[in-house]
Amino acid sequence: MSRTSIKTNKELKINEVVKVKAPIVEALKNSVEYPSYQFHIPGHTKGRAIFSDFKKLIGEKALNVDTTDEFDNLGTLHPATGPIGEAQELAAQAFGASKTFFLLNGSTAGNMAIGMACTKAGQKVIINRNCHRSALTGLMISGAEPIWICPNRIEDWSIWGNLDAQVIEKHLQENNNVGLVWITNPTYEGVVSDIKSISKVCKKYGVPLVVDEAHGCLWNFNKHLPETALKLGADAVLHSLHKTGGSMSQSSMLHIAKESLINADAVEKALKMLHTTSPSLMLLASLDAARANLQSRSGQALLERTIENAKYLRKRLDKIEGLHQLKADFGYKTDVTKIFIKMDGLSGKRLESILEIDFNIEVESASDIGVLLLCNLGNKRSDFAYLADCLEKISKSEYKDIYYLEKRKHMPMLEPIIRMSLREAYYAEKEVIAKENAIGRISAELVAECPPGISILLPGELITEAHLPYLNDYKTLEVVK
Ligand SMILES: Cc1ncc(COP(=O)(O)O)c(C=O)c1O
Repeated sequence: MSRTSIKTNKELKINEVVKVKAPIVEALKNSVEYPSYQFHIPGHTKGRAIFSDFKKLIGEKALNVDTTDEFDNLGTLHPATGPIGEAQELAAQAFGASKTFFLLNGSTAGNMAIGMACTKAGQKVIINRNCHRSALTGLMISGAEPIWICPNRIEDWSIWGNLDAQVIEKHLQENNNVGLVWITNPTYEGVVSDIKSISKVCKKYGVPLVVDEAHGCLWNFNKHLPETALKLGADAVLHSLHKTGGSMSQSSMLHIAKESLINADAVEKALKMLHTTSPSLMLLASLDAARANLQSRSGQALLERTIENAKYLRKRLDKIEGLHQLKADFGYKTDVTKIFIKMDGLSGKRLESILEIDFNIEVESASDIGVLLLCNLGNKRSDFAYLADCLEKISKSEYKDIYYLEKRKHMPMLEPIIRMSLREAYYAEKEVIAKENAIGRISAELVAECPPGISILLPGELITEAHLPYLNDYKTLEVVK
């Protein structure tokens, strides 16, 4: 397929009978239909040499398409050529970017590449305290220093909320060596900041803005969802397509905006260094397929239904006594498909375990306060009805909770006291000591549990008593000697 044969979104909409293209999927189909004699990796050779129970479990077809780039006219990832290059171009068009990179190892790889390519030692980076740990890995690689900004707190829910443009502007005014503003939007629980104002501020100071929109990859595909940062002036945006977009686990995208201060070539070089040299075609095809699906009429209808289902669930939840859901409030919006709930008398962790043990329902995550429910493209209306029925039953039952006695916390809500640079502390001489003896010492490790991958402790941060409720599962900590 030539470059000129790629259709724009508009063309696809005008001629709706045109099948949305998915070049990697097509190329893989072709390679399965016309197999070659294989004398190359992967050595299981289309599943012929693999543990039979595993083969039965995942099926012969999956093993047939488990291949890597360069072979069977599938193209290459670095540089992006052939069907892989075409698929990335189609993704860039679909998301409104100038360039899109497919990511293996998730948005984690994208964040690390941003750190490597867009920041350097001696520079400052304005970054939110509730960023994903992979952004910190990026900064540890480059040696740039974070200026931590704390979002507003939503105290009733014990979560971080939105970021204020004024706070970012204040730091830009006070520091003349800021290389990047790097923020997370939405938060894990779906709180949405005013990215338009933030990007305006960044443009005023000529500093690039990267938005980790890992949890917002559907936004460009439905008007009832928040606006993507790619349309609001960000220079680069990350999307974990595997989280909510319908691709396979680990597959994500990094988009460079149309008018970007970020050097796409530098990002590509970093990705080449960070990525595996044997990219899974199955994962790459799943990104291609997820994008095609979201652009297709059936995918659009599915997303529309998902939003209706989310609204239905929210309505049902509103009627349950003692149950509360996080909603948009002054200063911030929310994503309708992410529903953070809490129930009077039960901690989030207790509610999670009741749902799991008594009702066979698994939720996205739970904190000491609440439970996060994701309304997915794949959920049916009957799933939502069942969930609402179960929550109703729980609210009317006599479930008890002693969890609060444990004094455990799960959503890191700490403002760091920095004593040493990230990188210096990470590479410093260290020792492992009992947690009880660690108060007053400087952390040498990054402690961040997943989900949500938000740091409890950063290398270089002073360990205080406030950290202890988050560290119940740790007996020892690594500290600077
Ligand atoms: C805000 C944010 N950024 C990045 C990541 C990393 O994404 P991935 O799992 O795709 O590597 C996560 C994962 O939870 C996240 O929450």
